[in-house]
Amino acid sequence: MSENFDVKLEKKCYVPDPACKEGARIPDYEKAYQEFLDDPDGFWDRIARELEWFQPWKQVKEWNHPYAKWFTDAKVNITHNCLDRHIFDGYRNRVAIIWRGEGGEERIVTYRQLYKEVMRFANALKDLGVMKGDRVCIYMPLVPEQIVAMLACARIGAVHSVVYGGFGANALNTRIRDAEAKIVITADIGMRRGKTIPLKGIVDEAVINAPSVERVVVLRRKEPLVELHSEMEVDFHEIMKAAEPVCAPEVMDSEDPLFTLYTSGTTGTPKGILHTCGGYMVGTYYTTKYIFDLKEHDVFWCTADPGWITGHSYIVYGPLAACATVLITETTPDYPDPGIWWKIIEDFGVTIFYTAPTAIRMFMKLGEEWPDKYDLSSIRILGSVGEPLNPEAFEWYYHVIGKDRCPLLDTWWQTETGMHMITTLVGEPMKPGFAGKAVPGVVVDVVNKAGEPVPAGTGGFLIIKEPWPSMMRTVYNNDERYRQYWETIPPYYAAGDLAVKDEDGYIMVIGRADDVIIVAGHNIGSAEIESALVSHESVAEAAAIGKPDPVKGNTIKAFVILRVGYEPSEKLMHELIYHVRMTLGPIAMPSEIEFVTSLPKTRSGKIMRRVLKAKELGMDPGDISTLED
Ligand code: WT7
Repeated sequence: MSENFDVKLEKKCYVPDPACKEGARIPDYEKAYQEFLDDPDGFWDRIARELEWFQPWKQVKEWNHPYAKWFTDAKVNITHNCLDRHIFDGYRNRVAIIWRGEGGEERIVTYRQLYKEVMRFANALKDLGVMKGDRVCIYMPLVPEQIVAMLACARIGAVHSVVYGGFGANALNTRIRDAEAKIVITADIGMRRGKTIPLKGIVDEAVINAPSVERVVVLRRKEPLVELHSEMEVDFHEIMKAAEPVCAPEVMDSEDPLFTLYTSGTTGTPKGILHTCGGYMVGTYYTTKYIFDLKEHDVFWCTADPGWITGHSYIVYGPLAACATVLITETTPDYPDPGIWWKIIEDFGVTIFYTAPTAIRMFMKLGEEWPDKYDLSSIRILGSVGEPLNPEAFEWYYHVIGKDRCPLLDTWWQTETGMHMITTLVGEPMKPGFAGKAVPGVVVDVVNKAGEPVPAGTGGFLIIKEPWPSMMRTVYNNDERYRQYWETIPPYYAAGDLAVKDEDGYIMVIGRADDVIIVAGHNIGSAEIESALVSHESVAEAAAIGKPDPVKGNTIKAFVILRVGYEPSEKLMHELIYHVRMTLGPIAMPSEIEFVTSLPKTRSGKIMRRVLKAKELGMDPGDISTLED
């Protein structure tokens, strides 16, 4: 896709009940945005002051393009703000986490209980030799212990790297090795649609050829307990029991690393996006409280997994820093039936509901009768994230779930940005298909390759003009890759997305400008799929593209050239699909493989996936002057 295209802009607009604005934390968008423009540092300074720091900052930001420091020389610990602060503010018995298992089991964890668990597990990690700056890989199902593990790392200054449970052994191994993780924290099993997923088995495989790993901590959920084989493996609860109960938070510099999180890129190696303590804390706290308009009695449900940035920012750090009650569940949206999520909303009185377009489209297909069975009147605010929320899905979500009375926030952001960047604030007019405008504190635009703003209605590249507190600081082990974000359309941060603005400045995000495929809201790099395919003995060359899908956004189609001696067959196709599943995990599985004898390439030998895609979709392939054959 090139950036020169015109887009027919949807004219529809929903003006919410003015009552939404009354009592909203940001009652007037224009005014808030202007206040930020008038004094950007003062804006962030005021927000940062709502939190507790061990030592204040000298400067709000220090910008040395493309490197930013936020809250320089300040000392902080994010867990002090997520836990201790509330305990001593009188919220010790407020519910921090409501967990619901697949079978209907419930666990309620108060702030005080969470605080105690985190301190104990932090000490247990110390007992295993984990020190400030060490990397810890967390590969767990969605249970409260996953959050305990993350916060315990942050408590002692260890850098966590959470890997989503849907990744396979090879993908996990790559991520462990890149981070040089000392410890892997896992569970025996995860639950999915009544079946158990053997997480520990995948870890067993992934730690082979991962020499940095000293210990594997296993949360054993299933009876009889799975056997721990070697001295390397320890039991989650046993090490907890043996640990001291009190652990003071490590005094971290604002710019010390908090975590890395891997995201797909255009090469076969995923990028370890690095976030730091102070700025990330301020950004996620601010957006949870002010953008989601979080209030005292809200029950906040973000349906993501902490294995993704959405879970880091809007299950764990943002909501806990803002003292929210967070709902988490291991349930899949259609098990035991497609009413389960609506039942959970009714049962727990969810007030803020944040999910992904792919889920909304799935429910749309299944029909209104499922949500209509349940009382959804507790919902106050709806949110969407992960990929464009198409107008049809917007309408359905707004009418059927929100009953035409809830603001719907389509939030655009990325692993790299750490927090919401573009949305429509509570009470502002909403336009289906458009994410909205930059949140106060952020400056974005849509520009051409030269960095010049494009007129309304013309497509261009989405860029961010100014640094923001929760921006990534580097790509782990690959600072060059970090600089590329700021050097593609200098001096701006190039998000890698195509977008278009309308006359009112509302931004519609169209999709990726690069070879990242978003499947059911999960970011998957073509190159990673291709390298998984090529690792199979039969494959000489492979190219993967995304094919539009009405529910998943995209599905993966791969084109494969076989090695001499191998013949295309249905059986081989299934074998290859299975091979990708085993190496990268179920989320990266191609749904289709076509055997070909050649692939379109540039003269320099790069596969032109754009040409494959155009051909597949019966579209004009655009400029093919660089095509070799
Ligand atoms: C990419 C980032 C940020 C949390 C989840 C994904 C796409 C994300 C939207 C949205 C249109 C969106 C973009 C972006 N994306 N939110 N509201 N509208 N596109 O994080 O895995 O880092 O993916 O997701 O293409 O670049 P991520």
